[in-house]
Amino acid sequence: MALTALRRPTPLIAWPLEIAETVAEMRRIRRHLDGTVGFVPTMGYLHEGHLSLVRMAREANDAVVVSIFVNPTQFGPNEDFERYPRDAEVDLRLLREADVDVVFFPTVGEIYPPGYLTCVNVEDVTDRLEGACRPGHFRGVATVVAKLFNIVQPDRAYFGQKDAQQVVVIQKMVEDLNMPVEILVGETVREPDGLAMSSRNVYLSPDERVRALVLSRSLRHAQALFAAGERDAGRIRCELEARIAATPGAAIDYVSLADPRTLRELDWIADRALVSLAARFGKTRLIDNVLLG
Ligand code: PAF
Repeated sequence: MALTALRRPTPLIAWPLEIAETVAEMRRIRRHLDGTVGFVPTMGYLHEGHLSLVRMAREANDAVVVSIFVNPTQFGPNEDFERYPRDAEVDLRLLREADVDVVFFPTVGEIYPPGYLTCVNVEDVTDRLEGACRPGHFRGVATVVAKLFNIVQPDRAYFGQKDAQQVVVIQKMVEDLNMPVEILVGETVREPDGLAMSSRNVYLSPDERVRALVLSRSLRHAQALFAAGERDAGRIRCELEARIAATPGAAIDYVSLADPRTLRELDWIADRALVSLAARFGKTRLIDNVLLG
């Protein structure tokens, strides 16, 4: 690992992956990391989307830290915290292969010890979209990410565009609380047929998996309409809603064309728009998005 004065001499030498399970261990390791630290926070069950962020971090930093923590405070009472997929063995193998230096792998009790009372609440941009469908979700996300930043103290942190609203919320938190972290965003990674990669895709039955393609196809349709000159956000929204509603077994949570910074709904696309979709296929809730302009 990239300890002080121990820069990786050649990729042929196998560098051990350090695993920190406590805040104290993570801090001890952090004190010895030399140069810039890139950080990829995850909830584990890693896929190519996470690994592409790890590669971005690896290319731009001297050391790479990845956290694996399924954060209970960002799940609602009726959501999938208990059944969220977990596979630590595979995750650690993938992170070793990706040349990660440190994995922070705390328990829930380590992050939220008894008597824990503090939350980070980013206002306004959390009222809409995912925030409206999943009350309290972004308070959990902002709180845990703030804690992880304080523990890991990265120079740069990497998030996927797939969770577009999460990116807006984290960027706002970092700006408002003067956190010395640069936020970098990696493009959404897709399966060859267009489905956005997500740890939750494993919940889909084969039928639902096919039906879920309506999301990426609808986003491509929005791009085509925009490329053809359509700027009426309401018209694009209606077309996408109709497509998804016509897919058997798909239940829409929202179809949104919003300002990419404020996430306020648009009537007219003056320059850019974030098109985001959320729909349920059986018990699986999926989100996807694309930027226009
Ligand atoms: O995007 C995720 O996996 C989670 O929301 C994050 C950022 C790791 C916080 O728990």
